[in-house]
Amino acid sequence: MGMQISPSVLNADLSSLADEVRRVQGAADWIHLDVMDNHFVPNLTFGLPVVASLLSQIDIPADCHLMINDPDHWAPGFAEAGAGSVTFHVEAARKPRMVAKDIRAAGARSGVAVKPGTPISQVKDLLPVIDMILVMTVEPGFGGQSFMADMLPKVREARRLADSADVDIWIQVDGGVGPDTIEQCAAAGADVFVAGSAVYRSPDPGLVVEQLRASAENAARP
Ligand code: DX5
Ligand code: ZN
Repeated sequence: MGMQISPSVLNADLSSLADEVRRVQGAADWIHLDVMDNHFVPNLTFGLPVVASLLSQIDIPADCHLMINDPDHWAPGFAEAGAGSVTFHVEAARKPRMVAKDIRAAGARSGVAVKPGTPISQVKDLLPVIDMILVMTVEPGFGGQSFMADMLPKVREARRLADSADVDIWIQVDGGVGPDTIEQCAAAGADVFVAGSAVYRSPDPGLVVEQLRASAENAARP
């Protein structure tokens, strides 16, 4: 797999969700859907019914990022609704291993996310049951925040961990990723890039996606 771009609709026009997704369809690899519950994070977006309904209207794989408590209960439902990838926060899960397995059993790739304050060692035991590690590069909850460059060592650590285990695990970065920061992320070993405001605040979101992918590919070249 090459470098993949997953635009986040968090800062798009949420009253026209399906149309907003179609603006990046064809250019983006995934559409990133930020599910928030006002408990795990101090913001509230949309839940399973909205995601399920959206999935029936769009033609691009969904990358669901669950910033919610009790992913043990909710996560498999997003996979059953047809999401291609479902990522839960390790801090929120009661039985992370079980959540990851349930997501896979329901037919999606399983991802585990870590907040900026959570060490990568927290996901070490999950390597056999996950397909992606999401290293948050902002405090989860809001789009448009500044990239935390001090998370880059953690991205490198996640990459080393995945490589050492000899498993094909993608490393995703999310938060403040855009033209000025994507290269550092790619050089540190990330290969899936979430970009919200960088994509949707542009008049030509599809073009930004292509540019971001080219920058990432360029930076990752040895
Ligand atoms: C933040 C979300 C991100 C956010 C990214 O909690 O998980 O996906 O939408 O937005 P930008 O790219 O604007 O930081
Ligand atoms: Zn996200």
